[in-house]
Amino acid sequence: MTIHIKTAEDLSKMQVVGKLAADVLEMIGPFVQPGVSTGELDNICHKYIVEEQNAIPAPLNYNGFPKSICTSVNHVICHGIPSDSKTLKSGDIINIDITVIKDGFHGDTSKMFCVGDTPSHAKRLIKVTQECLYKAIEIVKPGISLGDIGHTIQQHGEANNYSIVREYCGHGIGRIFHEEPQILHYGKPNTGTRLIEGMTFTIEPMLNAGTRYTKLSKKDGWAVTTKDRRLSAQWEHTMAVTSDGCKVFTLRSDEVL
Ligand code: MF3
Ligand code: CO
Ligand code: CO
Repeated sequence: MTIHIKTAEDLSKMQVVGKLAADVLEMIGPFVQPGVSTGELDNICHKYIVEEQNAIPAPLNYNGFPKSICTSVNHVICHGIPSDSKTLKSGDIINIDITVIKDGFHGDTSKMFCVGDTPSHAKRLIKVTQECLYKAIEIVKPGISLGDIGHTIQQHGEANNYSIVREYCGHGIGRIFHEEPQILHYGKPNTGTRLIEGMTFTIEPMLNAGTRYTKLSKKDGWAVTTKDRRLSAQWEHTMAVTSDGCKVFTLRSDEVL
């Protein structure tokens, strides 16, 4: 069990790459419209990361993943593979998950987008999921436990009658895309590893409108869907534990924490 504690120099590199990942989400926003394919969104992000940012899209070839970003539409929870044949339509919701590598370090962040006219029940799921992420970020500081993070998310999600996905979690991040510790999005207060200054990890809650159970696509081996095919939402940030709280590396300009 090795949690890599980052040096000041590491943290400044993670701030740089975190900003790059956030910039990709800001750049792609205007392209998320009815009629666009997820394959086109992937192409645009790939080109931007490689040519404008001189960075590397981490998902490409990661354990055989074939594209540069993940696009998870409606009942797809996470790890959706972009495709030229998957065209967005009004009313869809989509998570775009961006991970960039620069100077050896990773920045990982995702957000939900509404395509055209989105039903209010879908907007509510998206909002509560983002609140779960923000509530968890608010409590991060040295001395709290990983169980406190999970409990905060589970509490808020379930209080709003949503279920929390358990099979996929947040993760330590740095020179390695997915490193220890695992950040579960459910749990009990005062349990598990305690946070210390210099830890870096993601929090990326996935909430379902129906049951929490998941299904892995037999077709592509990647896309994770809800078992009942009801909607799912996810938001993700990369952060570091500081002396008295945390620093979110992947903040966008539309956010105030
Ligand atoms: N970005 C995802 C995460 O939040 C991981 C994607 S791995 C891929 O951890 F291979 F599907 F790209
Ligand atoms: Co992640
Ligand atoms: Co991610």
